[in-house]
Amino acid sequence: MTQSFTPRPLVIAPSILASDFSKLGEEVRAVDQAGADWIHLDVMDGHFVPNISYGPDVIKAMRPHTKKIFDAHLMISPCDPYLEAFAKAGCDHITVHAEAGPHLHRSLQAIRALGKKAGVSINPATPASVIEYVLDLIDLVLVMSVNPGFGGQAFIRSAIGKISDVRAMVAGRPIDIEVDGGVAPDVAGQLAAAGANAFVAGSAVFKGGTLEAYKTNVAAIRNAAADARGEAI
Ligand code: DX5
Ligand code: ZN
Repeated sequence: MTQSFTPRPLVIAPSILASDFSKLGEEVRAVDQAGADWIHLDVMDGHFVPNISYGPDVIKAMRPHTKKIFDAHLMISPCDPYLEAFAKAGCDHITVHAEAGPHLHRSLQAIRALGKKAGVSINPATPASVIEYVLDLIDLVLVMSVNPGFGGQAFIRSAIGKISDVRAMVAGRPIDIEVDGGVAPDVAGQLAAAGANAFVAGSAVFKGGTLEAYKTNVAAIRNAAADARGEAI
């Protein structure tokens, strides 16, 4: 299917999960300077996913280090009791997993009621159709291209077809289509062609460990995606 709608802006969202946690503020400032559009914040609870990362207090401590959008990806269950804390910590987008509980619609209503942009994330085994009855409540769909819980995993190729399905369902609504997991310049073009406009990358951005490396890494993903979108680089 050819793209028949005005594309959403191209977004590169480095995942702080891959940064050096001993200097979080500095890492946030570095990816900001390196050209990040959003800062992707992976919250893990050791229950919904088999790993624990950080919560609202750590996000609050990062907040003064950049003016960029804080894109929170909650891999927690339940999520509803914590939504307000993430909103107060300075998250601009709050994305919950469709698989995290029985009341996705209620969670999305709660995020919107807090004045934040609401996102739905879907695991590799979850079909795109799960978003059908919440399309009017979401600002973002986050398609997982790895099983959530860890950085540095191999990209799961079936995410590409799922992104095309999501794009067809979104049908020109003002909803960002974000992809997360194993994203690197080698797949960014195919993902952009399928309809993704927001690219989360952890290891592919933070490899090298210096501001110069981050700049090169962000630019490589952006260029691959922009090229596939037919945009001037
Ligand atoms: C995985 C997280 C991702 C992760 C991506 O559960 O949602 O955001 O940090 O890391 P890479 O880009 O290394 O796969
Ligand atoms: Zn994530």
